[in-house]
Amino acid sequence: MRQLKLMATTLVLASLLSCGKKAGEQTRDSIIETKVEQLLSKMTLEEKIGQMNQISSSIKLEEMGPAIKRGEVGSILNEAEPQRINALQNIAVEESRLGIPLLIARDVIHGFKTIFPIPLGQGASFDPDVAYQGARVAAVEAASVGIRWTFAPMIDIARDPRWGRISEGCGEDSYLTSVMGAAMVRGFQGDSLHLASSIAACPKHFVGYGAVEGGRDYNSTYIPERLMRNVYLPPFKAAVEAGATTFMTSFNDNNGIPSSGNQLILKKILREEWGFKGFVVTDWGSAQEMITHGFAVNDKDAAEKAVNAGVDMEMVSHMFVEQLPQLVKEGAVSETTIDNAVRNILRVKFQLGLFENPYVDTTKPSVMYDEAHLLAAKRAAIESAILLKNKNNTLPLSNKIKTIAVVGPMADAPYEQLGTWVFDGEKSHTQTPLAALKKIAKERNMRVLYEPGLAYTRDKSTQQFRKVTNAAKRADAVIVFVGEESILSGEAHSLANLDLQGAQTALIEALKRTGKPLITVVMAGRPLTIEKEVNLSDAVLYSFHPGTMGGPALADLLTGVATPSGKTPITFPKMVGQIPMYYSHKNTGRPATRNETLLDQIPVAAGQTSLGCTSFYLDAGFDPLFPFGYGLSYTTFAYSNILLSATKLQKKDVLTVTFDLKNTGDYKGTEVAQLYIQDKVGSVTRPVKELKRFKRIHLLPGQTEKVTFELPISELAFCNIDMKEVVEAGQFGLWVATDSNSGKELSFEVVR
Ligand code: BGC
Repeated sequence: MRQLKLMATTLVLASLLSCGKKAGEQTRDSIIETKVEQLLSKMTLEEKIGQMNQISSSIKLEEMGPAIKRGEVGSILNEAEPQRINALQNIAVEESRLGIPLLIARDVIHGFKTIFPIPLGQGASFDPDVAYQGARVAAVEAASVGIRWTFAPMIDIARDPRWGRISEGCGEDSYLTSVMGAAMVRGFQGDSLHLASSIAACPKHFVGYGAVEGGRDYNSTYIPERLMRNVYLPPFKAAVEAGATTFMTSFNDNNGIPSSGNQLILKKILREEWGFKGFVVTDWGSAQEMITHGFAVNDKDAAEKAVNAGVDMEMVSHMFVEQLPQLVKEGAVSETTIDNAVRNILRVKFQLGLFENPYVDTTKPSVMYDEAHLLAAKRAAIESAILLKNKNNTLPLSNKIKTIAVVGPMADAPYEQLGTWVFDGEKSHTQTPLAALKKIAKERNMRVLYEPGLAYTRDKSTQQFRKVTNAAKRADAVIVFVGEESILSGEAHSLANLDLQGAQTALIEALKRTGKPLITVVMAGRPLTIEKEVNLSDAVLYSFHPGTMGGPALADLLTGVATPSGKTPITFPKMVGQIPMYYSHKNTGRPATRNETLLDQIPVAAGQTSLGCTSFYLDAGFDPLFPFGYGLSYTTFAYSNILLSATKLQKKDVLTVTFDLKNTGDYKGTEVAQLYIQDKVGSVTRPVKELKRFKRIHLLPGQTEKVTFELPISELAFCNIDMKEVVEAGQFGLWVATDSNSGKELSFEVVR
């Protein structure tokens, strides 16, 4: 009987939902609101609290089934087997009193089966379409097994590569991360959340997690509210504007307040200021961890603090189901608070169409590793690779090269090149550089000599080096693939030393001694401190962990079938002691003049004033190894005729910047043109540069294109001395350039 009632309700809803938004008709949103209220009115307190409970699939089926039946489970994390998902849904829909479907969640971060480059690599593409496609493909594949919710994108601004999770985000810049993160949200959620191939996105970790002290995972952060609003919050706001339906709180305590108990971020900012209508889930046990933080006494206190701060669903620690009934009885948590949380959760379930169709169709042909998915992953890997050095045009490999030595622990490491957060991607589907180069070599009549030299990146044994150098000596050029194994970055994998692990540097040194042209390809989860290796190499291509199709992408780049176009999404430090190092720093009262005396130039027994009283390191100097936005191409580009539509603008105006970009080299190529501004004087000090626009422009040799950037002056707003988001009148610098460290400064003024 109840089953029939449910069917009738869902049929009515389905027909209403398909009506579209005609005048006088209820919109889809208002239909959903009505359904939410109807359902809520039928729920007992325990059933409501059950919706706020997410359990892990590791719980035994004998326990899970009865709990679902009792209405104590709203979501299951980490199920990925379609038959099991359908069986669990069946219990929820057919055997629980109200038949509310489960929300099946999993970390589908940079691909489900077809693995795209890690998000930091995608950041290097400066291409929102790469981010969109990566998320879309991930959604299509994951949804096909019944997963309808992913914990992505991670849009934590991170400026410390020691932090292992830097690999999961798009780097150091707020604007780049906002653009890429919003594209990922749209990609996951598709044209409509209601479609079976759409999955709910969950921007994370709200907020500030990327600033953990010393890069040590799970650590504390100290981000004052103004910095939070100017740097760390904008990507999350952009994600809300892109339609993100869920949010995840972060593990860190910021200035003493753990995010899962932080009313300022969860209530005032997310709900009141941004009008977020989705639901907030904790990170794995992060509400309960408030006890360890010393912010809550026990489970009861932690549950109360989390729910009252604005958390809607608890991930895996079960405090809500255990503690909330009593807390409500005692009046410590109001039923209105519970109702609001449940509304937020049910709304997303309705939006996903789960009430109409809770089951996944297991009879459909597999979409995994679809040809189009592989092609998109290859394109993403091509665009994510950054050419850091190319002395005497060592790359692309010329036709004169008849024998190449392919060496190093990452040349044929199908699992390692996939990167962090790969639960489902299979290494058997990975195409490695070795395999791809062998294929191309056949077509080009080239010989490939392969010697790994090291079994894995941490391998310290030099025993195989002789074999490697022998191969190198017989070759016309050497390509050494180094980097980090997948497990060396990602969650809980912070490092204090960012040099290449094991004997990789020694391997590069040994290869250098052969005198052969030396090309170094780095596959890693973060920027590594590779100054020495860059100096030893003729060319360096940095691909981060490039995913399933990394091999063919890199082979195309190395042989000139494709041209590198990636740009550093994060500053590459020369040494760890320089961290944090990011381009949008403040000027300080004493910026370095670059005439200061460095360590080796200091005379013995130097007087106290001889060192230059400015902000720099005696030993590391002034510069990073590579600045933000940096990346070479096989061709060259020239910027000219940079013109501003006006030099005096009002706050309501739009500044139009035009310029000519010419491909002045011999290869077709893509340039990521970047627009930076500097707000010269503010009511609080402002960064020396801020990225405001970027564009990928494809040009044939000799071709020139007129490029336009439109910049509404309203986008120069920042959180000022009064904690208000305003554009302040005054002088601005402007650069249109190939990276954050180049270009000629132009200026304009914003008038009152
Ligand atoms: C991570 C999250 C992840 C969650 C679920 C946590 O440990 O911090 O990013 O989504 O686990 O797997």
